[in-house]
Amino acid sequence: MSRTSVIAGNWKMHLTKRKASALAREVAARQGAAEHRRCIVFPAFVHLDHVRRNLKGSNVVLGAQNCWSKKEGAFTGEISPYMLRDMGVQVVLLGHSERRHVLGETDSLLVDKLKVALRAKLEVMLCVGETLEEREAGLTFEVLRRQLKALKHVKDSQVPRVSVAYEPVWAIGTGLTATPAQAQEVHAEARSSIAGILGDSAAAAMPVLYGGSVKPANASELLSQADVDGALVGGASLVIDQFGPILDAAPVV
Ligand code: PGA
Repeated sequence: MSRTSVIAGNWKMHLTKRKASALAREVAARQGAAEHRRCIVFPAFVHLDHVRRNLKGSNVVLGAQNCWSKKEGAFTGEISPYMLRDMGVQVVLLGHSERRHVLGETDSLLVDKLKVALRAKLEVMLCVGETLEEREAGLTFEVLRRQLKALKHVKDSQVPRVSVAYEPVWAIGTGLTATPAQAQEVHAEARSSIAGILGDSAAAAMPVLYGGSVKPANASELLSQADVDGALVGGASLVIDQFGPILDAAPVV
């Protein structure tokens, strides 16, 4: 089956209010009325409202990079998925490798975040991926299966609001990219794990994005792999001259 490509920009802890707003306008213009690809941007929390205003009237989707695992309460410094929803956010990124490996988020915390984000009616993009040591020890699929177990908590009615991003930790921000064949191999395995958890039709419909040093030069080849449904782009999403060509690399289905 053909899935609509998803090209997402993870702006991480970058940009000023003014630069984020300007980039949002550039992305909106570049995305235009394209229907064969979905474009999502993930600005920092404090820029969400400015970016939302600058995306108005476009079909670029507003995402947030994280949320907390509870609806509300005494959690100083945290942001509820319900607050994000209230602000006009549609998608939340969960389990990004920097959250897992730098900020220490665990699989069980991510299960709680996933459940409450879906209850808040957000879409969830769940990030998974192995470290270099895990890959070298032959543990890539095992890590993938463990991280994907969070999907057991997705109800049938919520499946259309879930996507997965495979981001090998060793490829993030390093300039190293999985080869298209490596990406395809892991994506196929991810899809079969998803099928084991949620069933064949859910797995066939669920977008599985690749992330990790996606650039204009490697985007087309990665996106042409059968099980690679899009790209989650970090560094190259901060400049329209790089993100634009990646958007344009989404195959017309
Ligand atoms: P990168 O980041 O494109 O800079 O490697 C990808 C990501 O962290 O989502």
